[in-house]
Amino acid sequence: MNFYIMTLFPEMVMDGLNTSIIGRAVNKGLLSIEALNIRDYAFNKHHSVDDYPYGGGAGMLMQAEPVYQCYDALARQIRERKAGEERSGEQPDMACGKKRTRVIYLSPQGKTFNQSMAEEFAQEEDLVFLCGHYEGIDERVLEEIVTDYVSIGDYVLTGGELPAMIMIDAISRLVPGVLHNDVSAEFESFQDNLLEYPQYSRPEVWHDKKVPEILMSGHHANIEKWRREQSVIRTAKNRPDLLEKAELTEKEKKLAKE
Ligand code: ADE
Repeated sequence: MNFYIMTLFPEMVMDGLNTSIIGRAVNKGLLSIEALNIRDYAFNKHHSVDDYPYGGGAGMLMQAEPVYQCYDALARQIRERKAGEERSGEQPDMACGKKRTRVIYLSPQGKTFNQSMAEEFAQEEDLVFLCGHYEGIDERVLEEIVTDYVSIGDYVLTGGELPAMIMIDAISRLVPGVLHNDVSAEFESFQDNLLEYPQYSRPEVWHDKKVPEILMSGHHANIEKWRREQSVIRTAKNRPDLLEKAELTEKEKKLAKE
């Protein structure tokens, strides 16, 4: 899977994503991450990328043209790569090559990111992220190039770079082979709209706290039952909003009310 990030701060994104699991997946060739500096596409006299908003108001806006030029160069690069792959028979599914690449604009005005959106985006071969700064980006270029408006939560950050990194992290771990154990991406928080159950590792006793007896029993069915109950209890306590969407048995519904 290929991630492209259009940003004024490429080093921020690249430094942040080149470590740990994501860095290893890049080295293994499962992912590629490329950051394009929008300033490199400011072909005006002063290489400026921002200007005052018409109608007044606080702060500066990113101008349409540098963003568009950056996108145009990137779109060409992706088109050429896909054409090359088709020629060499790497991508026999021709329909894939004709599909429009999704361009995600990170903004508090977008749809709130969640696990099912991560799963949907993880099906794509290429994803482009557009990171705004200052007070945002001229609306006209957004209308032309953006396919998805995404927010990572109801708060305002100084730019789209951290949200893009968060999305790339959440999407990457769903790409087959990125996690050591693909099963662990399946059985965890938000699966079935329940939070994950508590987990324990060695030692058996730590700070006078003992690992729950059931986990040492070796009885897998009972362990599964206990974990499911813990998930229900935890979700009821921390995220009752999720519980409304979860499919619970009558017994579990009672448990959630306790
Ligand atoms: N840019 C600034 N704040 C943001 C947010 N909450 N989500 C996505 N992009 C943003």
